[in-house]
Amino acid sequence: MRGASRLAALLTAAAALTIDVVALSNISRQGRFLYDTSGTRFYIKGVAYQPQGSVTTSADNPFEEPSTFVDPLADDSGCSRDLPFLQKLGVNVVRVYSVNSSLNHDSCMSALSGAGIYTIIDLSLPLNGSIDRDSPAWSTNLQDQYIETINTFSKYDNVLAYNVGNEVVTASNETDAATFIKAAARDIKAYLASKNSSALVGYAAIDGDDDFVAPLANFLSCDPSGSNSGSTAIDLYGLNNYEWCGNATPSVYADKNALFSNYNVAAYFSEFGCVSSPPRLWTEVAALFSQPMTGEWSGGIAFSYFPAASAAGQFGMVNISSDGTTVTVSNDFNLLQAQYAQASPPNSPSASSTANFPACPTQNSTWLASASLPPTPDDAACSCLDSTFACKFSPPTSNTSTTVGPLLDEACGLLGQAGGNCDAISANGTTGTYGPVSFCDPSTKLSYTFNQFYLATNLQASSCDFAGNATVVSGEPTNSAAASSAASSCLAAVPATFTPSAPATTAGSSSSSSTSGSSSGSSGSGNNNNGALGVFSEHAMVGAFVSALFSVLGGLLVLA
Ligand SMILES: *[C@@H]1O[C@H](CO)[C@@H](O)[C@H](O)[C@H]1NC(C)=O
Ligand SMILES: *[C@@H]1O[C@H](CO)[C@@H](O)[C@H](O)[C@H]1NC(C)=O
Ligand SMILES: *[C@@H]1O[C@H](CO)[C@@H](O)[C@H](O)[C@H]1NC(C)=O
Ligand SMILES: *[C@@H]1O[C@H](CO)[C@@H](O)[C@H](O)[C@H]1NC(C)=O
Ligand SMILES: *[C@@H]1O[C@H](CO)[C@@H](O)[C@H](O)[C@H]1NC(C)=O
Ligand SMILES: *[C@@H]1O[C@H](CO)[C@@H](O)[C@H](O)[C@H]1NC(C)=O
Ligand SMILES: *[C@@H]1O[C@H](CO)[C@@H](O)[C@H](O)[C@H]1NC(C)=O
Ligand SMILES: *[C@@H]1O[C@H](CO)[C@@H](O)[C@H](O)[C@H]1NC(C)=O
Ligand SMILES: *[C@@H]1O[C@H](CO)[C@@H](O)[C@H](O)[C@H]1NC(C)=O
Ligand SMILES: *[C@@H]1O[C@H](CO)[C@@H](O)[C@H](O)[C@H]1NC(C)=O
Repeated sequence: MRGASRLAALLTAAAALTIDVVALSNISRQGRFLYDTSGTRFYIKGVAYQPQGSVTTSADNPFEEPSTFVDPLADDSGCSRDLPFLQKLGVNVVRVYSVNSSLNHDSCMSALSGAGIYTIIDLSLPLNGSIDRDSPAWSTNLQDQYIETINTFSKYDNVLAYNVGNEVVTASNETDAATFIKAAARDIKAYLASKNSSALVGYAAIDGDDDFVAPLANFLSCDPSGSNSGSTAIDLYGLNNYEWCGNATPSVYADKNALFSNYNVAAYFSEFGCVSSPPRLWTEVAALFSQPMTGEWSGGIAFSYFPAASAAGQFGMVNISSDGTTVTVSNDFNLLQAQYAQASPPNSPSASSTANFPACPTQNSTWLASASLPPTPDDAACSCLDSTFACKFSPPTSNTSTTVGPLLDEACGLLGQAGGNCDAISANGTTGTYGPVSFCDPSTKLSYTFNQFYLATNLQASSCDFAGNATVVSGEPTNSAAASSAASSCLAAVPATFTPSAPATTAGSSSSSSTSGSSSGSSGSGNNNNGALGVFSEHAMVGAFVSALFSVLGGLLVLA
């Protein structure tokens, strides 16, 4: 027996060596399943991997979304500390909710790759770095942020997918935001193709009311053009699902399975692991990795490696010592390890290249998203426009994330009284109406509005002030006809959709110094949850937690 185990150890070492030098297989989506290059079905056996950021608990933040983050893939020592534990857990994917594109990730990404571990990278960031469910838009600043992250990660062989959003839509009356999520998927997919990247495009959804969960999934993978084209479709739909609590039975998944029985792209549980009846037994793993679940789903991500507090309870399966050097595992960890070790999902069906992109869900009172998507955000058009204003936003600090929203509301209110309106900067995902400036970053939208008000009030100095936030620029058009013609020449050549390119500078999105550091115009309503939001899976609760945050464009409609 000794000889045999030594041989086994040698073989393991040889295998490890091989893994070190051979790139990981690309994983592709064929129809509704994932396959590696040998044609073997690929299942996500994953864990969420990100320390929890700071969370301010308030009525404005019902989902306890963090306002900061720590990038675990840029923490070399933390990553090498954790790698043996991730290997012991038996995972082949880690999901990371926020990364910093300006940091170096080489060491951790290559260590994970060497261990056969892929990553799912969420492209959004806390606060202003994600599509705002209360005032949704798909704009240059977000697209630039997403592209910068892709540029940082595209050299690695172990990015399985990029998520364009996490739990942006949390209730039926926020489903208009899906229009912008789908536009993000379209443009990011085109960008990845232009880089020859084989990474998949994903979205991770809250598990809420049936009225919107299935339509949202179907909308993100549908073809508005009716030509069986996947150009606006995600590849990978994630459901943050916490239905299985304690030692449940597979029947808890029956309803969800039925909703996804005809789904056309790959689906998985982007979070699972209910904490309401501890200790967590993780018996859902056996169900998720066998029939009938494997007929609809491609695995899932257990939530979470690191401790994570939430309204639903304390998640996490390890503790890190205060000096950051030692990992202590809990029973949660051991039980999940045992369950993952036993998971043996079927290698079927085999790959079929038949593409099926059905028509989009019809709009009704609980499904608001129009299949007329907003245009691709165009950096060049916005910076051109930004250089034509006789009155401009001139923030005293580059951090404008809390001032842009109130200033926009104020400026649009005043513009309305002066006989104008904010239609040009407004986007409406329900009617599918997008003002020509609606894809620009919030600072450019604000400058546009300041300028409109300045022109509408015949260049009164007091109209270009806004308590010191606006400044007159000389040499720019000072009457409406000339301003409109200058704006048109910036915007005229913009096609509705095109393959975006990387932003001009790696550091920022805007070529205009006074608008760099733009913000989304929300009062901190990013949707980057760093996990555990899907715990509100009881339908009544989801409805009760609709956020009541300050909404910029919502306010515009009250203008006469
Ligand atoms: C990324 O890291 C840089 C360098 O530490 C830091 O200045 C910047 O604020 C970080 N960005 C984000 C979005 O956290
Ligand atoms: C993508 O692949 C094509 C065809 O192999 C090649 O011509 C092109 O240079 C590649 N583009 C990038 C960005 O690597
Ligand atoms: C994976 O796909 C990329 C992009 O298409 C390609 O450059 C690379 O060679 C592929 N890797 C493997 C191991 O097939
Ligand atoms: C709206 O349509 C979706 C299907 O796309 C359906 O699930 C939902 O129940 C409908 N809502 C109403 C109020 O009929
Ligand atoms: C982690 O620390 C918390 C708080 O001290 C404790 O409740 C929990 O049991 C610890 N978990 C592990 C894995 O040691
Ligand atoms: C969010 O705000 C920060 C601080 O003002 C800024 O640096 C960043 O560019 C903004 N991000 C987006 C996507 O607008
Ligand atoms: C920007 O200012 C807001 C409010 O003062 C603050 O919460 C946020 O952390 C700041 N962001 C940066 C990147 O400094
Ligand atoms: C979009 O337009 C519809 C119809 O005019 C309106 O009811 C809805 O409130 C608008 N939505 C937004 C976000 O402005
Ligand atoms: C700019 O606008 C903000 C928000 O209304 C306000 O708090 C601030 O006092 C204004 N002036 C300056 C110089 O920041
Ligand atoms: C969405 O519906 C909830 C009730 O479920 C309501 O409180 C909230 O005001 C609505 N939000 C919008 C944007 O209509």
